[in-house]
Amino acid sequence: MSGPTVLIVDDERTLARSIKTFLTESGYEAEVAGDAESALELLESFRPDVIFADVRLPGMGGIELLERIREFDASIPVIIMTAYGSIEGAVEAVKLGAFDYLKKPVDLEELKLLADRARETSLLKQELSYYRNREAKKLPFAGMIGESTAIRAVMEQARQIAALDDTPPVLITGETGTGKGLIARTLHASGPRASKPFIEVNCTALPGSLMEAELFGHERGAFTDAKQSKIGLFEAAEHGFIFLDEIGDVELALQGKLLRAIEERMVRRVGGIRDRKIDVRILAATNRDLEREAQAGTFRRDLYFRLAVILLRLPPLRERDDDVLLLAEDFVRRFSTKYGKDVKRMSPAVRDALLAYSWPGNVRELSHVMERAVLWSEGGVLEAEQLSLTKMDDAGQVRVTSEMPIPDMSATDANTGLSLPGALPPRGTDLAQWERSMIEQALREANGNQTQAAQRLGVSRDTLRYRLKKFGIQ
Ligand SMILES: Nc1ncnc2c1ncn2[C@@H]1O[C@H](COP(=O)(O)OP(=O)(O)OP(=O)(O)O)[C@@H](O)[C@H]1O
Ligand SMILES: [Mg+2]
Repeated sequence: MSGPTVLIVDDERTLARSIKTFLTESGYEAEVAGDAESALELLESFRPDVIFADVRLPGMGGIELLERIREFDASIPVIIMTAYGSIEGAVEAVKLGAFDYLKKPVDLEELKLLADRARETSLLKQELSYYRNREAKKLPFAGMIGESTAIRAVMEQARQIAALDDTPPVLITGETGTGKGLIARTLHASGPRASKPFIEVNCTALPGSLMEAELFGHERGAFTDAKQSKIGLFEAAEHGFIFLDEIGDVELALQGKLLRAIEERMVRRVGGIRDRKIDVRILAATNRDLEREAQAGTFRRDLYFRLAVILLRLPPLRERDDDVLLLAEDFVRRFSTKYGKDVKRMSPAVRDALLAYSWPGNVRELSHVMERAVLWSEGGVLEAEQLSLTKMDDAGQVRVTSEMPIPDMSATDANTGLSLPGALPPRGTDLAQWERSMIEQALREANGNQTQAAQRLGVSRDTLRYRLKKFGIQ
């Protein structure tokens, strides 16, 4: 048999049998268990798609059974049956994650409709998570973590650029700590020149004249200390990459020489008379607004336009939805290994604090915060006391705090994963409409409290706010 499967858990044999017959005639494969214990035994072998369970059972009751089923597999919809006139347990059951409840005496038609709906909803859930996983798998650009739309767009561009053997220069912009260095190294490591050199130059480090000799090399006797000739970093990067970090700090005099090297693909050593051809891919990074500086004349416009033929703009962490959690989890794993700790997860309060914070220092700041937290951690769960986030107070002063605003999470259900309330909408309703109505429902349930509504829907508050704006709710 390959029809959808239903498990009926009820000690009223006659009723259970008539439900079974009715469902079998409607194309379901049905099985009956007389008590919770035998129902649990059947879970593994029978793998029901939908379960109907009486709230009153001999031994373990329906509510406890529901909890045990959810531990086994939270995606199986469970419908609780209650005696007519009492919705005893029904509300509690739905709170605990039951798909719905059904009043006794049972109307078989109604029961079948419920079974159909539960089945359709769980299929849809599976489909959604399939697409999510598929999308997620496709995305990572080597070691870069992130699934938000903002970072995906950059990674996709980066992937295309990396695949090419040669491109015009690439300018990487973004606030401090957003991953400019990381993406530059990844462009090198995941492309055809991966086995060739990657030379990183911090343009802030040296004054212009020394920088020129560093970049282009010098001939013997070119200046007082030049006892021997030396090749420059451009030549050293031959067939590979040169990464000019903090390009905005290059002095104006040197900017002209850089422009020539990039345009003509030639370098001349300091004190030399011969131009040398170079085959080097050029990456540059800055956290300054070079476009504006170019307009203002503090950075050469021609060099800016030359460098910015391909522009990769890394989004700040606060514009990356839930990526902060993905990254935090990854840092927890890494630092747990590094420090021999056994941190398995973060408490809801920690997750909430991470989402609420604005991350001026972006991913680097997050990594430092998580490193400290793991260091201070005890046991398997990271707690909010272990976080210390730099906060601005009202006077704009920076202070370090560990007391974070922690909303009361005790009332929210733990299975928020993707628990879809209620039923599928009428045919013809599109997903966006459906999403909208679910958000409205969650908000109503939470009396307008966005934190609780977001928890209920299993998304971050930022994501919820974004959706509210998108749908123009409130
Ligand atoms: N998407 C990401 N996934 C994983 N780690 C990341 C990601 N982005 C950044 N990091 C990590 O965050 C830290 C800061 O990144 P990086 O040094 O590349 O930032 P940056 O933009 O170059 O900063 P700055 O402007 O201060 O030089 C690094 O440890 C980097 O590995
Ligand atoms: Mg950097």
